[in-house]
Amino acid sequence: MSPAPMSTVHSPLLVGNWKMNLLRKDARDLAQAVAETARAAKKTEIWIAPPLTAMETVLQAVQGSPVKVGAQNVHWEKRGAFTGEVSLPMLKDLGTWFAIVGHSERRHIFGEPNDLVARRALAALQESFPTILCIGETQKEREEKRTFAVIKESLAPVLDQMKAGEMENLVIAYEPVWAIGTGNVATIAQIEEVHRFITEECHKRAQHTAPLILYGGSVTPDNFTEIINSPWVSGALVGGASLKPESFQSLIQIAEKS
Ligand code: PGA
Repeated sequence: MSPAPMSTVHSPLLVGNWKMNLLRKDARDLAQAVAETARAAKKTEIWIAPPLTAMETVLQAVQGSPVKVGAQNVHWEKRGAFTGEVSLPMLKDLGTWFAIVGHSERRHIFGEPNDLVARRALAALQESFPTILCIGETQKEREEKRTFAVIKESLAPVLDQMKAGEMENLVIAYEPVWAIGTGNVATIAQIEEVHRFITEECHKRAQHTAPLILYGGSVTPDNFTEIINSPWVSGALVGGASLKPESFQSLIQIAEKS
């Protein structure tokens, strides 16, 4: 049983998370290269999340192409005294189309807990803003056999408070922390058992819709074919390999053949 298709986004979905990389000129060049490949893609949905400083440049560079541009985080309030944060109206004002929340670097470097991440996700979903919720266990949690408990704890505050219909704009990225930026990609068996568990958790709340579930963590053109051909995987959230046109374009081509 594979996840049911969603109304606003579809698989295969490839998301490039540029993190805190690229000045505007390099961001424009990369975005133009991605846009060119995206124009030729027949079925792959392609999203990129540049740093905020390059957002306008990237939006201009991909104009007229199917590439969608999003932010790496979003605050739950519309405005106010929240130094260093960005709100949904601000992102919409720019023309930004989606947001990532709860990335492992937000959780583990900046200490964002599940309930705070959930506030970010719920505020965006309430406005029908496509939102990628990132979840995943650390190496220690996996060794302690707590993977499913961690996944459940991260999903619960979002799934339990979501209103009917909001699941349609939710995308979940399973990103084992030990696989991010390390070159240690999870095995297909590890990916499939967690994606299956996430699908089941979602079906407990909404029988007929399940969000797209992406895998993330050291995805490269060398390991992506097996991952994207799994019926449990809807696409990938890609860090390092999204920063070079050749590798991201190769990932798009692999997704096209899936
Ligand atoms: P990586 O990053 O592809 O460089 O491992 C993935 C992510 O952080 O989303």
